[in-house]
Amino acid sequence: MPSPYTHSKTLTTTATRFLKTPLVLLSSFLLFYLLYHTHIYSLSTPTITHTSLSTPTTTTTTTTTTTTSLHHLVFGIASSSNSYPKRLSYIHTWFKPYMTRGYIFLDHIPTYNDTLIPILISKDTSKFPYTFPRGLRSAIRVSRIVKEIVDLNLFNVRWFIFGDDDTVFFTENLVKTLSKYDHNKWYYVGSNSESFDQNTNYSFDMAFGGGGFAISYSLGKVLAKVLDKCLMRYSHLYGSDSRIFSCLTELGVGLTHEPGFHQVDMRGSLFGMLSAHPLAPLVSLHHLDNVEPIFPGMNHSQALEQLLLAVKVDSERILQQTVCYDHSKSLTISISWGYSVQVYEGNQLLPDLLPLQRSFVPWRRSVNAYSNPFMFNIREYSKYPCKRPAVFYLENVFSKANEIQSNYKRQFVKHCVQNGSVKNLEEIVVFSQKLDLDIGKLQAPRRHCCDVLTPFDTKIDVRIRQCGDEELIAMDP
Ligand SMILES: *[C@@H]1O[C@H](CO)[C@@H](O)[C@H](O)[C@H]1NC(C)=O
Ligand SMILES: *[C@@H]1O[C@H](CO)[C@@H](O)[C@H](O)[C@H]1NC(C)=O
Ligand SMILES: *[C@@H]1O[C@H](CO)[C@@H](O)[C@H](O)[C@H]1NC(C)=O
Ligand SMILES: *[C@@H]1O[C@H](CO)[C@@H](O)[C@H](O)[C@H]1NC(C)=O
Repeated sequence: MPSPYTHSKTLTTTATRFLKTPLVLLSSFLLFYLLYHTHIYSLSTPTITHTSLSTPTTTTTTTTTTTTSLHHLVFGIASSSNSYPKRLSYIHTWFKPYMTRGYIFLDHIPTYNDTLIPILISKDTSKFPYTFPRGLRSAIRVSRIVKEIVDLNLFNVRWFIFGDDDTVFFTENLVKTLSKYDHNKWYYVGSNSESFDQNTNYSFDMAFGGGGFAISYSLGKVLAKVLDKCLMRYSHLYGSDSRIFSCLTELGVGLTHEPGFHQVDMRGSLFGMLSAHPLAPLVSLHHLDNVEPIFPGMNHSQALEQLLLAVKVDSERILQQTVCYDHSKSLTISISWGYSVQVYEGNQLLPDLLPLQRSFVPWRRSVNAYSNPFMFNIREYSKYPCKRPAVFYLENVFSKANEIQSNYKRQFVKHCVQNGSVKNLEEIVVFSQKLDLDIGKLQAPRRHCCDVLTPFDTKIDVRIRQCGDEELIAMDP
C-alpha cells in the first residue's frame, strides 16, 4: 500500500487537549534541543579516523556547518493512537532519543506513553473534504504532518523526513544520501514502489510514503505555506503520499529517485531483494511485518536486530553486493554484506547475479504471477531448495583495529544430494574495512572487488577491497 494507515480505523483528530499546553510543549522542545546539542557536540570532538576505502590520503576537515549530519534532520512519523503501542518497538530500533530529532504524530493522546520519543497530536482536519471510496480520511491528517512539523520552526534543520510507524530508517545512510544534495535548493527525495501496478495506480514519480521521503528545508518552508490550499483540490485521492506528491507537482517540483528507500510492496521472503541491493546505501525498509522474518529461524524483531548488528558495525556497507571468484575450484561467491552469502558451482557472470531472485510474491495477490510485475530485473529462484546455490546467513560481526570480520553460517537443506566443492562448506568469513563514502563516491559509485584468501574445505575466507583501476569482476583467466 502506498500510504500509511492500512490498519488504523481512527479517523478523527483531537487537538484541543494538546493545545492547552503550548508552554509545556515549547519548554520541552528547548530542553530536548539543549540535551541534544550537548550530546552531539561532545560526540563529535574526538578525532576518530575511519579507515576509508575512498581517498585514504586526504584528511577532509569539513566542518559541521558544511557537512550534513543527523542533527540537521527532523523526522515526522505517521502513527495513530491505535497502532502506536504496537509499532513503538520498531521506531526504537532506529530513533535514538537525544540523537535523532522528530515526533510521532498521533490522532489522540495514547493510553500508554513513551517518554523518550516525543509525540504530537495532529490538528483537526474536519474542514478538508475526503471522497475516495472506502479510503481513510486520516490520509489528510498524515499529509499535514509535513506542514505541522515545518511550522514548529525548529532550529538548524536541513531536511524534513517522513515515514510510517512501520518504516525502519537507516539514519547514517540517510544522512549520507542526503549529503549529496543542497538543502537550500528544492528537493523531494525518495523512491516509488517495487510494484509496477502500484506505480501505475499512483505515479511512477511519487515517493511512496511507507518507504519514506525527504523534503529539503527550503522546499518544506514553501510547501507548508501552500499545502492547505492545495489539499482542497485532492479530496478524491486515496493516500497522504499522493497528496504531498500532487502539491509538490503543483509547485513544479519532481521526485529525485534514490534507490535506497524501500516501500516493500511485496510479500513472502525478501531474500532475493536483500541479496542484490542496488549500488547505493540502504536507507529504509517498510512493511517488515508483512513479509517473512528476514533471517530464518527467527521472529520479526529478532531478525531485524540481527541485521542491525551489522548495521552498527558498518552501516554504509549493509547489503552491498560483492562477488568473488575462485578459479581453482570454479566457485562463484556472491556476498550481500551483513546479510547473506550464496555460493554457486561454476562461473556465474556478474551481470547474471544482479537481477533479483524471485523469492517474493506481489503485494496484491491478483497480479499475474507469470509476467514480471516488479520494477526490477528478476531471475527465477528455484522452488526446490536443492537446486539453489548454497546459502549462508550472517551469524555475527566483529570490528577490530582496522578490520571488520563478518561470519556467515550455512543453512543446510535436508535431503539434498551434495557433490562438488560446496559439499562440505559450512562457513564464509568476510573481511572488509569500514565504508565511508565521500560525495564523489556516492555520486559515481563503483562496486568493490574481493579475493578468496585461503584454500578451503569447510570454510572460505574472503577479503573485500576496492578494485584496481582496470580490474574486472570476473573469474580469471
Ligand atoms: C504522557 O506524557 C506527557 C508528557 O510527559 C504527560 O503530560 C502525560 O500525562 C502522559 N500521559 C500518559 C497517559 O501517561
Ligand atoms: C489500481 O489498479 C487496479 C487494477 O490494476 C484496480 O483494480 C484498483 O482499483 C486501482 N486502485 C486505485 C487506488 O486506483
Ligand atoms: C521474539 O523472540 C524473542 C526471543 O526468543 C522474544 O523475546 C520475543 O518476545 C519474540 N517476539 C515476538 C514478537 O514474538
Ligand atoms: C553434481 O551432481 C549433478 C547432478 O545432481 C551433476 O550434474 C554434476 O555434474 C555433479 N557435479 C560434480 C562436480 O560432480
